[in-house]
Amino acid sequence: MDADELTSLHREFLKDSVRLRFDFSTTAQSRGIPPPALQKACPADGTVRSVEGLEAGIWRYLPLEHRLLFEFSEPGLGARISAACLGQRFVAQGAATFFWSVLPARMEWRYGPAAHRVLPLDAGHVCQNSYLAAEAIGAGACAVGAYDQQALDALLRLDGAEEFVLYLASVGKKDG
Ligand SMILES: Cc1cc2nc3c(=O)[nH]c(=O)nc-3n(C[C@H](O)[C@H](O)[C@H](O)COP(=O)(O)O)c2cc1C
Repeated sequence: MDADELTSLHREFLKDSVRLRFDFSTTAQSRGIPPPALQKACPADGTVRSVEGLEAGIWRYLPLEHRLLFEFSEPGLGARISAACLGQRFVAQGAATFFWSVLPARMEWRYGPAAHRVLPLDAGHVCQNSYLAAEAIGAGACAVGAYDQQALDALLRLDGAEEFVLYLASVGKKDG
């Protein structure tokens, strides 16, 4: 596919006209299939905890419990994250970096092939709220859309097919 064809395809992707070509009565939801789990499985053995101060590492937010789950840490994590973000050093220098991964099957359950346009819209809302929340505590946020998909998914131990990074933002104190 040449660049013009790819551009035209991507323009179509931005439009909501997919719904004219798709029969919504065929979605998994319309067919009565139960929805995918709202949240990935997590241990129920006390390793889930609310935290005041976080150890450096990868933590997963559990929206149903509004808690954080420690996933893992490893030497050189910050440097590897920066490298996976195409050498953007600030990504690992902020106080915290939020990685938003997507499990497309959840949105596809309801919207089928119309899911993929609304997923990034949703991520944009979430990220914008991180800007607002950061400002509210005197910090700043910077959205990051440029990264090496495979490297970042591998680093975060996501399979890259059923779940992959869609967006991230680094949050930290402002200079001065
Ligand atoms: C979708 C999206 C992707 C972005 N990706 C990057 C990025 O990879 N690296 C970066 O330094 N900033 C990135 N930014 C942040 C912008 O460069 C800019 O700093 C941000 O939108 C806030 O603008 P302002 O603080 O200058 O008003 C991104 C912003 C958006 C909305």
